[in-house]
Amino acid sequence: MRKLFVMTSQFTNRTSSSDVVLRDDEFFELRGFILRVSGIFFPDSKRYFIESRLKKRVEQLGLSSFREYIDFLRFSPYRGKELDILFGLITVNETYFFRDELQLKAIEENILPELINSKPRNGFRRLRIWSAGCSTGEEPYTIAMIFLEKIQPKFPDVVVEIIGTDINGSVLEVAKIGVYGNYSVRFVPENYLSRFFEIKGDKFYLRDEVKRLVRFERVNLVDKFQMLGMKGFDLVLLRNVLIYFDEGARREVVSLIYDSLNRGGYLMVGYSESLRNVTKAFKVVYFEKAVAYKKE
Ligand SMILES: C[S@@+](CC[C@H](N)C(=O)[O-])C[C@H]1O[C@@H](n2cnc3c(N)ncnc32)[C@H](O)[C@@H]1O
Repeated sequence: MRKLFVMTSQFTNRTSSSDVVLRDDEFFELRGFILRVSGIFFPDSKRYFIESRLKKRVEQLGLSSFREYIDFLRFSPYRGKELDILFGLITVNETYFFRDELQLKAIEENILPELINSKPRNGFRRLRIWSAGCSTGEEPYTIAMIFLEKIQPKFPDVVVEIIGTDINGSVLEVAKIGVYGNYSVRFVPENYLSRFFEIKGDKFYLRDEVKRLVRFERVNLVDKFQMLGMKGFDLVLLRNVLIYFDEGARREVVSLIYDSLNRGGYLMVGYSESLRNVTKAFKVVYFEKAVAYKKE
């Protein structure tokens, strides 16, 4: 291993088209490692994705093979930092504001009013919402805008706390800044755009009124220890995250999220995702054109 540790001081910019290739045994071992530390599963068809995303990193570290990279991830004193870099390279962070509006409609018209009405009216009513796997923040900020525009006027005694978490630290840094491009805002309704964004050139700056409702934290959903800190939520959004996991990780994460929810709380997964074959713990609730999972 000595060779590997010495190499960390050689963060060279080697860009030569080296002969670093991902061999079969390395691919199987690397994907097993990634699965264990993140829940993310790469089928055989994603082998090229892994190779192309990580090859440059292997070279940057001055390593000569994926075998050495796997050892580096396991044994190097810098493995914590390297894991962060790995997550940054392999996660798919596609997201945008107002994604899947039928689900948002169910949240606005059914789920949030039900959750609020179920809370006792003594002083302020507190609502806790978690966007798990929030990427660059568009999802939790969308919920914050809906709260300000539609919920707060009807329920002025409600205080909301929204937490956005992700395994990838760099997307959270983007989320905290709150400045977006055209792609992210393309489905934002006109009235929301003019109320909640300041437009400068081709950039959309989220106003403080929205930013202050959302807090971002680094949380790995398969890390049981970190998940112990995530408790007392009324609504959890886990949209477009489970699709990247294998069956075991899906079960594990959904069960941990079940524990994170208050009784009566809801879990919503992505529009194309389902908890069939994952758990029977929730009651399935059908809204007009969306489904959510209730912890009874
Ligand atoms: C495709 S994005 C979904 C973003 C947003 N929820 C949406 O629906 O638009 C999936 C996100 O899940 C995150 N993710 C993947 N595995 C994770 C894990 N084990 N713990 C926390 N976040 C994870 C990725 O980093 C990525 O940002």
